[in-house]
Amino acid sequence: MTGPSGKTWGGRFEAGAAPEAEAFTASLRFDRRLWSHDLTGSAAWARALGRAGLLTAAEQDAILAGLDAVRAEIEGGRFPFRQELEDIHTNVERRLIELAGPVGGKLHTGRSRNDQIALDERLYLRDVIGHVDAGLRDVQEVLCDRAEAHAAAPMPGYTHLQRAQPILLAHHLLAYVEMLGRDRARLADARRRTNVLPLGAAALAGAAFPIDRSALARELDFSAPTANSLDAVSDRDYVVEFLSAAAIVGMHLSRLAGDLTLWATAEFGFVEIADAFATGSSIMPQKKNPDVAELIRGKSGRLYGNLVAVLTIMKGLPLTYNSDMQEDKEPLFDSIDTLEAILRVLPAMLRTLTFREGRMREAAGAHYSTATDLADYLVRKGLPFREAHEVVGKTVRHGIAAGKELGELSLEEFQRFSSLVGPDVHAALTVESSLAARAVLGGTAPEAVKRALAAARAAIAQA
Ligand code: ARG
Repeated sequence: MTGPSGKTWGGRFEAGAAPEAEAFTASLRFDRRLWSHDLTGSAAWARALGRAGLLTAAEQDAILAGLDAVRAEIEGGRFPFRQELEDIHTNVERRLIELAGPVGGKLHTGRSRNDQIALDERLYLRDVIGHVDAGLRDVQEVLCDRAEAHAAAPMPGYTHLQRAQPILLAHHLLAYVEMLGRDRARLADARRRTNVLPLGAAALAGAAFPIDRSALARELDFSAPTANSLDAVSDRDYVVEFLSAAAIVGMHLSRLAGDLTLWATAEFGFVEIADAFATGSSIMPQKKNPDVAELIRGKSGRLYGNLVAVLTIMKGLPLTYNSDMQEDKEPLFDSIDTLEAILRVLPAMLRTLTFREGRMREAAGAHYSTATDLADYLVRKGLPFREAHEVVGKTVRHGIAAGKELGELSLEEFQRFSSLVGPDVHAALTVESSLAARAVLGGTAPEAVKRALAAARAAIAQA
């Protein structure tokens, strides 16, 4: 506005900025996405100035009308964005003055871009957390639907990626519902700490005018004003918390996507990914690649990177505001865009998976997967578990040598290793009895999984 630079802060400067410096410091390219929240915050500030007697009713109305006009221009794609004005805040303010006249110059009374950006980010993050939460809920719901549709289907459970014990596919899917439930709780918790009003902190020491910050907080739906002006303009921990929650979501979804990528191989053959969510190979005509799942798995990398970037930017910064902090935005926005992109595609991909129940059931019963059930059987007959483990180990070794699965051994073969084995042993070693035995709370027995599904649905509806 003033001085050779034409900047809002130009009064003190004799020379304009070097074009390289101007291009280097400008943040408009990325912070313009905060425009709507910047306008909302500015309108609330104008009303707060009015309540404090710093604007007459007519001045306040002129500023509010000017802000509405700016909003209409941006919404209509008619707003003249100017990079030389650095950021979204000065772009809005300059246009306000052009549209409303010199009275627009009163809006920045008692306010700094330092508390303004913290406000904009907090307002914006509140909205984002709402969208991300809804997206995670969608994923949870699809997983529950798929679990319900395959309620009785067994599959092998793995540890060390070795077949371990039979489980239900539904139990496996519901494990992810639990993870996402904790992710949603983490985001809700982060939202509580984000939802505090920084406006009124001004540059760092607090506004020099009698602003009722509690009224301002209520008007903008914040739970309270921040308690320390230095803290309000200098910390971005709400960004770090969001990025941290987003990184954990990315970690969980990368495991789900990793499971699907593995299950879609010819070696596993547990699932077929719909054509709509796979791609072909430019050279191998037979290929069907699980690209969507692979990319979901891969995107966890940038979600982690963005968290580490902002932690590193903030480390060791002297109080209070430093321009370094402007570097928080691109990582933040990238994580938001990444999560939103994942959450747009994942529910549909999950909904269109074809699970191969036959293949899974066959694998669930193979490779001595019910050996633990034989040990448990012997324990029920009174043998200490350690001895039972030894007996079963020898029985399995015999089975491998004889080329027989556990269920194919005769009673006489079983009895070679323990006289406690009776004619009821075969019934104890089926996939069904292995599953049914694990009826403990949180276990994979069909009854337990049915209850877990009902509890998960109730928790989803409540959260
Ligand atoms: N763009 C800055 C940021 O993201 C906000 C503006 C504060 N700039 C300043 N020179 N005080 O943190």
